[in-house]
Amino acid sequence: MTITPNTSYAAVIGHPIAHSLSPRLHNSIYDIEGLDLLYLAFDIPHGKLRSAVEGLCSLSFSGFNVTIPHKEEVMVFLDEIDPVAAAIGAVNTVKIKDGRMFGYNTDGLGFLNSLKGQNIECNGRSILILGAGGSARAIGITLAVENPREILILNRNRDRGEKLAMDINDYAGYGLSKTVVEAPEKTDIIINTTPLGMWPKVLDSPLAGYSFNPDTIVCDIVYNPLETTLLREAKKFGCKTVGGLGMLVGQGIKAVEIWTNKQIHDSTVRQVYDELYSVLKERSQ
Ligand SMILES: NC(=O)c1ccc[n+]([C@@H]2O[C@H](COP(=O)([O-])OP(=O)(O)OC[C@H]3O[C@@H](n4cnc5c(N)ncnc54)[C@H](OP(=O)(O)O)[C@@H]3O)[C@@H](O)[C@H]2O)c1
Repeated sequence: MTITPNTSYAAVIGHPIAHSLSPRLHNSIYDIEGLDLLYLAFDIPHGKLRSAVEGLCSLSFSGFNVTIPHKEEVMVFLDEIDPVAAAIGAVNTVKIKDGRMFGYNTDGLGFLNSLKGQNIECNGRSILILGAGGSARAIGITLAVENPREILILNRNRDRGEKLAMDINDYAGYGLSKTVVEAPEKTDIIINTTPLGMWPKVLDSPLAGYSFNPDTIVCDIVYNPLETTLLREAKKFGCKTVGGLGMLVGQGIKAVEIWTNKQIHDSTVRQVYDELYSVLKERSQ
């Protein structure tokens, strides 16, 4: 791209950040859509968050993404927080406008859009979420308003699971969610939000030895590897599976839409998905 005095900037801040796919994802979207925007990555260690955020604001960045470990702490530096992000308790996208900072969380919407892209509806369905960390919270709160029948939480730390179920119920306004101590025999959608199965421990699975019902749709938000052991096992039972790359692309697309107030074309979504798929495929060889 050509950088001019009119070029706007966006970024991701996190620690570590070296392996982030976000610069590749965003700069591809900007290229395809013809946006005069450039996306950078900054490694911001603990203790430097305030000055980093103030610096991005002073330099009039259009916005920035926030990743591990700053998604919760960043909230104290923002002027306004979107109600969904407030319910999740974490921000992954900040929009800067007229020197004010607005916080959003696009992780849950990114996941939801990856389901919609495969014509999967949550309406009336029983959903089991494995894990109760940041991404489980984003997904649980986002799916709570998609009219599922129930949202079950299975987490190693039971108290953390209970807290998420309670927060989902508060957000939904009724008793939609509860914790379970093992995966039920039958559920409509299973979503892994734990890092089990992520590179380099690719043989790990959060449901090792589980007998999947062939009607269950099994999703993993881990995208490296593209097909986790969980998804491979589920496929053997005849289940439809959804990998984590669609969520990664979806949360990035939503961030660009927030910064630019433009709707990104479906063809762009497909093109960047294919590009990142090739990058990850190459990395795994
Ligand atoms: N596709 C995407 O766009 C996308 C976006 C965000 C995150 N992710 C991926 O999602 C994963 C989780 O991210 P996060 O930010 O939600 O992490 P997090 O906040 O640290 O939460 C991790 C969750 O996994 C559970 N867990 C961790 N290790 C476990 C183990 N050995 N056995 C059982 N449970 C375990 C934790 O349980 P406890 O509560 O018991 O500790 C916690 O509930 C990562 O692999 C990340 O790369 C993908």
